[in-house]
Amino acid sequence: MNWTRKDLTGIAELSAGEIRLLLETATTFKDVGTRDIKKVPALRGKTLVNFFVEPSTRTRISFELAAFRLSADVINMSASTSSLTKGETLLDTAKNLRAMLADIIVLRHSSAGAAQFLAERLDASIINAGDGAHEHPTQALLDTFTVCERVGRMDGDLRGLHVAIVGDILFSRVARSNIHALTKLGARVTLCGPPTLVPRELEALGVTVTHDLDSLLADVDVVNLLRIQHERQRKEYFPSLGEYTALFGLTKARAEKLRPKCLIMHPGPINRGVEIDSDIADSGRSVILDQVTNGLAVRMAVLYLCSGARNQ
Ligand code: CP
Repeated sequence: MNWTRKDLTGIAELSAGEIRLLLETATTFKDVGTRDIKKVPALRGKTLVNFFVEPSTRTRISFELAAFRLSADVINMSASTSSLTKGETLLDTAKNLRAMLADIIVLRHSSAGAAQFLAERLDASIINAGDGAHEHPTQALLDTFTVCERVGRMDGDLRGLHVAIVGDILFSRVARSNIHALTKLGARVTLCGPPTLVPRELEALGVTVTHDLDSLLADVDVVNLLRIQHERQRKEYFPSLGEYTALFGLTKARAEKLRPKCLIMHPGPINRGVEIDSDIADSGRSVILDQVTNGLAVRMAVLYLCSGARNQ
């Protein structure tokens, strides 16, 4: 399988083969992180701009470290200190970055389609680090990598595996990208949350929808909990956080119902005591920090493959 894309804007457009190639390449790069000298020369001489118009801890630092480990030069820029605040458009800003010979632009933006918009207009590689409620492709790849690693399916064949994604699905780019990745690799996916945040229409994505978390827990191999995205919600979607936790939080009592080997995942940032009990988040069944570690290898793979395709 050859990688031919200069950009990564979403999982929806990827084939199962392309996802498997990304996971396979990430496996190779994960090994780099175990060496004394955690660096390879694959992107020496390339310049990456981390352009984050929305806040981030994990994704921004992870892309920065991934670029360092590939020997690229890295510039970080945020919206608040850029000329976006003076009215410059996203496209003009990106064109100026390209005029300074940026090879790769990693973009996080509040508007769905922002990365695709730049990818169609610039010859730099554009990597989507989250666009509104649309997609967060590298999060889904690191989540999928973590599942494959933990269940011993590094060939990326997830047939027979049942994954629950719980919480605010409607506003979640993480959920959308995970649904695409998991279903393409053969997993069964069930979405669970309040009817206002998990409407039945989502079944068109090839998943099952339920609003009854307690009946679901004993039947899943993975439970991925999502944060309530207050920043994207324009009205109240449930009466109170307390009620949300009572019905959809992974409390200690609910965690007891999970299969012993069920993986507990969360993309972060966690709202402790809301979607997940604090002790459960820190327990041995939680792979939340493994997800973060794997994010580095996955992002190295994305940068390496997209940069390689751009140079062809
Ligand atoms: N999971 C995730 O995207 O986290 P950040 O917002 O901190 O990047």
